[in-house]
Amino acid sequence: MSAPPAEAPGVAPGAARVLRVLGTGGTIAGRAARADDLIGYQAGVVAVQDLLQGLPEPPGWTLQAQQVANVDSKDMTVAVWRALLQAVHAALLDPAVGAVLVTHGTDTLEETAWLLQAALAPAKPVVLTGAMRPATALAPDGPQNLAEALVLATDQGTQGAGGVWVTLAGRVFDAAAVRKVHPARVDAFGGGDAGPAAWVEGGRVRWLLDPAARVAALAARAHTGAPARPPWQVEAWPRVEWITSHGGADGALVRALLAQRRAARAGQDADAPLAGLVVAGTGNGSVHAELADALRQAQQEGVAVWITTRCAEGEVLPSPHGRGAGGWTVTSLPPAKARVSLMLALLGQAVPR
Ligand code: SIN
Repeated sequence: MSAPPAEAPGVAPGAARVLRVLGTGGTIAGRAARADDLIGYQAGVVAVQDLLQGLPEPPGWTLQAQQVANVDSKDMTVAVWRALLQAVHAALLDPAVGAVLVTHGTDTLEETAWLLQAALAPAKPVVLTGAMRPATALAPDGPQNLAEALVLATDQGTQGAGGVWVTLAGRVFDAAAVRKVHPARVDAFGGGDAGPAAWVEGGRVRWLLDPAARVAALAARAHTGAPARPPWQVEAWPRVEWITSHGGADGALVRALLAQRRAARAGQDADAPLAGLVVAGTGNGSVHAELADALRQAQQEGVAVWITTRCAEGEVLPSPHGRGAGGWTVTSLPPAKARVSLMLALLGQAVPR
């Protein structure tokens, strides 16, 4: 494997450090026809350079904007993820850059945050933010979130710890804990059992924990191993689907995916063959008996199967007694992040067509 080169150290003392701001779109860059329309807007329209207008640069820092994409994050693609990984990686390698800020739609922000953490494990801080109201709103939340993201990215705690962090509505979450928990409120994000890691208040960060210790703990949760090549250099990522166990889950969906896998591997289906399944089980990762039969068949045919829970909070506890999630590959990550980790894990292997 060609490991990504180590991040370059910071600049000479006294020189202004660069905070590179990478725009990817989202509601924070959204525009509506009317100022009172908080729903019928188009996301991913305003340029990141324009979002920064009027924001004070943190003392000793200079802002440098770069537009990586401008999309509604519900439409996130591997191509955008690859472009973002490459842009963040390049920024981390630049000795003048001391921190990276990513503006992003809120809908898949938790996936991208985890992707950046799991794939790059950055020694410099990478902060993601977004907004729940478009830039044209009467009281948009984007400018305040951006201002607080600048504070967070240049804070001593994140500067010492590195890692990927998310801030919205004054709260700070690590990349593993963060998840969108509400479709409309400005404080739409939560950290599950972990809660927030810090608050941004009055232009300062108030940490509730040691950020360096939290970042160190994240590495153990990535489950990815060493990728054969940096993921941004790989065009076709393995197909990993995310399904849920529920009343009446009879495995028909898995059988359909296996049929697609066989057809794709035989060259009769142009889509990438199924390579992995993340199953959001009930409760402690339990799976309907009929779905479990289909998953065992998938494993026999070479599909990687990871189990997590569909519960909004908590983690699956592996049981030594064969109940609950016993027997499956269990991940403590919620489904959206487990899917990212499984794709990265499979990128480390040759995935046969
Ligand atoms: C998006 O995720 O791009 C749209 C929704 C949002 O940013 O809140």
